[in-house]
Amino acid sequence: MRKPAGKLLLFGATGDLSQRMLIPSLFGLHADGLLPEGLTITGTARSEQDDAGFREFARTALETHLPDDRKDTDAIAGFLDRLQYQPLDAATIEGYDDLADKLGDISGGLAIFLSTAPWLFGPTIKGLQSAGLAGDNVRIGLEKPLGKDLDSSREINDIVAAAFPEDRTFRIDHYLGKETVQNILALRFGNSLFEPVWNARGIDHVQITVSETVGLEGRAGYYEEVGALRDMVQNHILQLLALIAMEPPARFDGTSIRDEKVKVLRSLRPIANGDAATHTVTGQYGAGAVKGNIVGGYAEELGAASATETFVAIKAHVDNWRWQGVPFYLRTGKRMPDRLSEIVVQFKPVPHSIFSERGGALEPNTLVIRLQPEEYVRLLVMAKQPGLDREGVRLREVPLNLSLDTEFANTRRRIAYERLLLDLIEGDPTLFVRRDEVEAQWQWIDAIRQGWQNANIAPKPYASGSWGPSASVALTERDGVTWHE
Ligand code: BG6
Repeated sequence: MRKPAGKLLLFGATGDLSQRMLIPSLFGLHADGLLPEGLTITGTARSEQDDAGFREFARTALETHLPDDRKDTDAIAGFLDRLQYQPLDAATIEGYDDLADKLGDISGGLAIFLSTAPWLFGPTIKGLQSAGLAGDNVRIGLEKPLGKDLDSSREINDIVAAAFPEDRTFRIDHYLGKETVQNILALRFGNSLFEPVWNARGIDHVQITVSETVGLEGRAGYYEEVGALRDMVQNHILQLLALIAMEPPARFDGTSIRDEKVKVLRSLRPIANGDAATHTVTGQYGAGAVKGNIVGGYAEELGAASATETFVAIKAHVDNWRWQGVPFYLRTGKRMPDRLSEIVVQFKPVPHSIFSERGGALEPNTLVIRLQPEEYVRLLVMAKQPGLDREGVRLREVPLNLSLDTEFANTRRRIAYERLLLDLIEGDPTLFVRRDEVEAQWQWIDAIRQGWQNANIAPKPYASGSWGPSASVALTERDGVTWHE
């Protein structure tokens, strides 16, 4: 049995992620009695303030981000009691002893949540080590960005590994904390129905779309350096692809699941030089309208011309027996018409239609897994339209609907970080990304970027509120496939 940590240390405690996600998530766990009794939460960041100041910050975060029915005064007071704060300039080694003093006795286990600028990883890990905050009973959760390519990611991973072995390193991909993402495993491996057709014989292609309506959201400094490929595909979309494509793991544990995922990631066919132009499309949003609001273009928001992509579509392949010849079409973009994440599995047509001579047309089955904002699984199947069929058999595609929102209406949906923070505190690595996975992801992504560079591929403009450049439509239409919209 792993032992839950008795203390939690949050770096970047006064930042945006902390305010929007971490503090509300920790409160959610506290209010439901899920945090270990006596667990203290120490926040640290550069800003000078005392415990009372940090508690006030947290109170405001809860006021702003909690739904009204969760604002329980007693629960909030109890939660704030757990909090304390220690200012720290993470770049200088001196402050870490004070941080250790503030934390006090950590023999009951310490969980650290680290989200920091890449250049601070080195000093932070050194500081933690020097103050005795990296011992056997300490584990560390790492928030992205963990590098911007394979080399820099290896550098960061090496720095961390010098103090924290892999089994105490928890790399966060918040998509894995989402209920519906975990549901992919339940759907695939909790039902006997899908597995026999879940391969190149049964499946024509897969589409994964993660679209957002937002633009830069004041994150210019970060996003401009990264772009959609590294911000969304390298992590979230490739994790979704791995869950869809992996072999059945033997057990539901960190080793079995991650062993199977990494095999998929390593089987991704490299999109080498010549293929970058035919297998990928990049775009950058211009002015337009999203949900009825007029919005400016990316360069306008940024205040400068830029070659950063805010949209990317890719035709990917997993080169193994199961998936030979099955394209995985991936796309993500900002300033799209809708915010949605979904996976579409397009099955093959029946081998022979008995209806064609009687006028009945068939559509191949489609499985839609909607991850957000709604949560549902929808299987499109053929049904006979009622009638006497004097003029031929009429068939129609109808949905078999499993609405998870309705089916589990009485179960509260948790923020992805609730799950991940609790797993970090309790030491369950299953939903965290292992180093070999990250490296396989970067390797594939780096080759694409190299291809863009070599072929001088620049993002094509698209209007805000559209589904990206028209070349994205052409990417699938060439194969006779239409994006599911
Ligand atoms: C983050 C990206 O990892 O995921 C953001 O950095 C993006 O650019 C966000 O907006 C999307 O997450 P979600 O949970 O809103 O789909």
